[in-house]
Amino acid sequence: MVSLNVKPRGRPLRGLPESIEVDLSTATTSEIYSKIAAHTRLDQNRLRITKGSDGSVLSQKHQDGKLVTVEETGLREGSQIFVKDLGPQIAWRTVFLVEYLGPLLIHPLFLGPLRPYLYSASAFNPMSYLPAAINPTTSGVIPPPSQTQQLVCALIFLHFLKREYETIFVHRFSSATMPAFNIFKNSAHYWVLSGFNLAYWLYVPSGVMSASWWPKALEPATNQAVLYGSIALFFFSEFSNYLTHVTLRNLRPSGSTKRSIPRGYGFNLVTCPNYLFETMAWGAITVLAGGNFSAILFLAVAAGQMAVWAKKKERRYRKEFGSAYKKKSSMFPFLW
Ligand SMILES: NC(=O)c1ccc[n+]([C@@H]2O[C@H](COP(=O)([O-])OP(=O)(O)OC[C@H]3O[C@@H](n4cnc5c(N)ncnc54)[C@H](OP(=O)(O)O)[C@@H]3O)[C@@H](O)[C@H]2O)c1
Repeated sequence: MVSLNVKPRGRPLRGLPESIEVDLSTATTSEIYSKIAAHTRLDQNRLRITKGSDGSVLSQKHQDGKLVTVEETGLREGSQIFVKDLGPQIAWRTVFLVEYLGPLLIHPLFLGPLRPYLYSASAFNPMSYLPAAINPTTSGVIPPPSQTQQLVCALIFLHFLKREYETIFVHRFSSATMPAFNIFKNSAHYWVLSGFNLAYWLYVPSGVMSASWWPKALEPATNQAVLYGSIALFFFSEFSNYLTHVTLRNLRPSGSTKRSIPRGYGFNLVTCPNYLFETMAWGAITVLAGGNFSAILFLAVAAGQMAVWAKKKERRYRKEFGSAYKKKSSMFPFLW
């Protein structure tokens, strides 16, 4: 048996023992976590335990899912460990489900049941005070949505439905939880930018989503090539995005956090083809929406964010896998 000295990192922790004992020949780091959790009565997921010697986090599992033993960590009799309470945690999967639920509900609601309230020029509707040039509200009867609006709503709904499906059945995440407060921060992007913002400006009563600068000849309502071309591009991109997610899933055996070099469809072209195909799908929606500024705003923010992440992932692959990983564009072939 060895005795480990325990101290709080930052704020004092109620119930934290001054030391704990573990059997060096058999104990795993999970045992350390469960002992501290039992003393402090905190969920294990909200504890971060670090080594006093070098500040590194005591992980509970190797990438292949096997448990880490105390002996492997280098902890010995009298070693110091620090414990930090990360606060209430929430499962990553829950965060994703909540994030996508926003636009999934907002679009059909804005197109249908809420339409009469959102666009009527009543004193209670803050939008009716917008400058005339961009004011979509009307004091007359609000007509039903146009066919293009219904189509765009259906495609956006399908997009987020697919994301929910993938969150539940496809992705194998490496971290179980994150601080609970982050759910608000993470959801804002989807609820506000691709939910409220996009839906409100796409389903305007005039039925015409197109921006004033959008060439009349490229209107999807009148140009069949633009209409069917965009629908085809959307489904091609969504299916390709799904295939890349399946490739990523198959890299990681169930229950592990293993990382490998993804290869095959899309991955031979760029590091993050999932981000490329996602951007193409939103490009198709933007064309169907006739360059509507809210669609352009979401496309730009989403593509910009993914482009930054893709560069980081490219660098991480090179660091992790060295020469086994062939350098390539991170997201846009030959460009980025
Ligand atoms: N429209 C937007 O604003 C926007 C923004 C971002 C993402 N998205 C969409 O959401 C999807 C998921 O995004 P994401 O950023 O989570 O994608 P990601 O980082 O590529 O991860 C997708 C899944 O694959 C796993 N994974 C990634 N690389 C791996 C590797 N080398 N070996 C084993 N497993 C690996 C990840 O696990 P870990 O838990 O280890 O990461 C995660 O479970 C994107 O593909 C995109 O379609 C949309």
